[in-house]
Formats: sequence, C-alpha cells, structure tokens
Amino acid sequence: MQNKIEQYTSEINSFQPADAAELETFRIRFLGTKGLIKDLFEEFKTVSSEEKRVMGKVLNEFKQLAEGKYQSLKESLTVESETTGTEADLTLPGEGFQSGSRHPLSLVRKEIIEIFKKLGFNVTEGPEIEDDWHNFSALNFPEEHPARDMQDTFFIKKGGEKGDIALRTHTSSVQVRMMENGKPPFRAIMPGRVYRNEAISARAHCFFHQVEGLYIDENVSFADLKQTLFYFVQELFGEGTKVRFRPSYFPFTEPSAEMDISCTICKGDGCQLCKYSGWVEILGCGMVDPNVLENCKIDSEKYTGYAFGMGIERITNLKYQIKDLRLFSENDVRFLQQFQSELI
Ligand code: DAH
Repeated sequence: MQNKIEQYTSEINSFQPADAAELETFRIRFLGTKGLIKDLFEEFKTVSSEEKRVMGKVLNEFKQLAEGKYQSLKESLTVESETTGTEADLTLPGEGFQSGSRHPLSLVRKEIIEIFKKLGFNVTEGPEIEDDWHNFSALNFPEEHPARDMQDTFFIKKGGEKGDIALRTHTSSVQVRMMENGKPPFRAIMPGRVYRNEAISARAHCFFHQVEGLYIDENVSFADLKQTLFYFVQELFGEGTKVRFRPSYFPFTEPSAEMDISCTICKGDGCQLCKYSGWVEILGCGMVDPNVLENCKIDSEKYTGYAFGMGIERITNLKYQIKDLRLFSENDVRFLQQFQSELI
C-alpha cells in the first residue's frame, strides 16, 4: 500500500493535462467513485490496527493532494480558456446587447402625460395607501356608500386619525391631497395604481392604473372640460375620433358624465368590441362638486373646476386590442416583446 501511494504521488505531481478531457480522465482515475483512492480506502480496512495508525494519515494526505491538484488544474484551465478566447481573435464581433421594451401600460401612460403637458397640466402623484378622508369622505361619498364596503375595498387598518386605512380605490384621492396642500389655480394630472377587491379574470383585476385630471380656477366651465377631452382624444386616438358625453353620477362631481369615443376598430359601424353600438366608454368626468371644494378649504363661490378619471388598462386595450387584462401583470416576455422598444 505504501509503495502504491508513493508511485501515485509522483504520478500526480508530474501530471500536466493538455486539455479538459485529460483532466477529466485524471479525475475519474483517482477521484471517481470507482477510482484508485476508493480502492486504497477499501484496502485500508484490511491492514492491521498498528499499521492503520500510520497509514491513515498517509492516506488522507494523499487524498488531499489528489483533490488539491485536480481543483487547481481545473481553475487554471478555465482561466486559460477565457483569456485565450479573447486574445485569440480581437476582430470577433461583440456580444449583442439585448435592450428591453417598455411595458404597454407605461407607453400609454407616457403618451397621456405628454398630451396633457402640452395643455399646461402638471403631473403629481399621491400615496397608494390612503385614509378614508382622502379616498372617500372629502370626495363627498356618503357614509353608507357601497364603495366603502369590505367587498370592494382592501382595508388595512381600522380607525386612523383620518378614518380607516385602505389601499386607494381610485386616483381621485390625489385631487384632495393636491387641493389641501396648495392654492388655486390647479391644473394637473395624477397617474397611479389603484386597488379593488375583485376576483381576477380577463375583464377585472385586483389592481389597475388610472389617470386623474383636475382643473380648478375662476370661471372654469363644462365647455372647457369638453374641449380639453376632445383635444385629448384626437391626439391619442387620431383625428376624426368622435366623442359623446352621457349623463352619469359620481359623488364628487355635479353634473357628472361619462365620455364615449367612436369605436377604434369599426369607426362607428358596429363590431364586437363596441357591442355593435359604435361607441366605447373611456372615462368619467364632471364639474367638481362644491362640497368637495369646501372640504379642501377652497372657496366654492369663487372657484369652479372640472375633474376626470380614466383607466390606463382600458385605453391600452383599445389602442392595442388586448382582450385579457391578466396579460399586463404576468410578465410574459412573448407579450411584452411586441411593444416598441425605447431607451428613455
Ligand atoms: N374615480 C372614478 C372611478 O374610479 C373615476 C372618475 C370619474 C374620476 C369622474 C373623476 C371624475 O375625477 O370626475 O371610477
């Protein structure tokens, strides 16, 4: 046994592999599950206990030698192959840089912001975790309004200083923050994520995105609202897109309306998307209710204004004809890749 170890030791010390395959042969020969070291350990079991004391140490040192040699040869081989790779041919083309693409919701959000910026609107944001006051009460929601129900809203904590804490259900809460923290005139849009307690399906999700708009000044009228939104639609969906306003109800606006645009697919002739009506709804809007202005300490005798709110998913669906809302949050590269890539 002693002799064998001496012989193997000199073999290992002088071993210099030409390539990775030779090193692998070395590994199998000495360190493999059926290798020589394994055999030596088998043989070790048969020697006398006196001999064991000496040979145990020798055998362990031999094993370490073999393993150490293998490790250092392996490292030097990888370093070598990496450096020779680049040194060998510097004229090889570089590796392609794969740039990402913007998420469709980000593209549309950006487009909406750009249009309103041209009209002099600022961009502001507010918190996603809101209190009852900013999400509901200041916006004139009555105490018993169904939106306050557990079924619709994700509540976080009961009874804070300004009421229960919840995930905001709409970006209208940012209007309130803006009016509370500043002095009129206000002209801003407020994009952001909102949350509702909905079962996830192709048509509903527990979170989505909205853009809120607010314009408060002296003598702001419904005509201003109509013209602004008309311009917005022409810019976003193309010249010639028709709009119509239908009376509606929101606690925070009076009068309130919903705005439809002529169907982006059939241009009004009737198709599946517009359910053969020729029109699709894209937003809610109205004149800010004087109660809301007063709640935010703004003189409702002096100031008037309008507000509107739209869903970014809805507009993205119309622009790109995406039929399943879940695609927006699944991060499937095959879906995301299809949208124009931009670096900024
Ligand atoms: N907050 C409404 C919603 O989430 C959308 C909305 C409607 C916002 C009318 C407004 C508005 O500012 O005036 O459904």
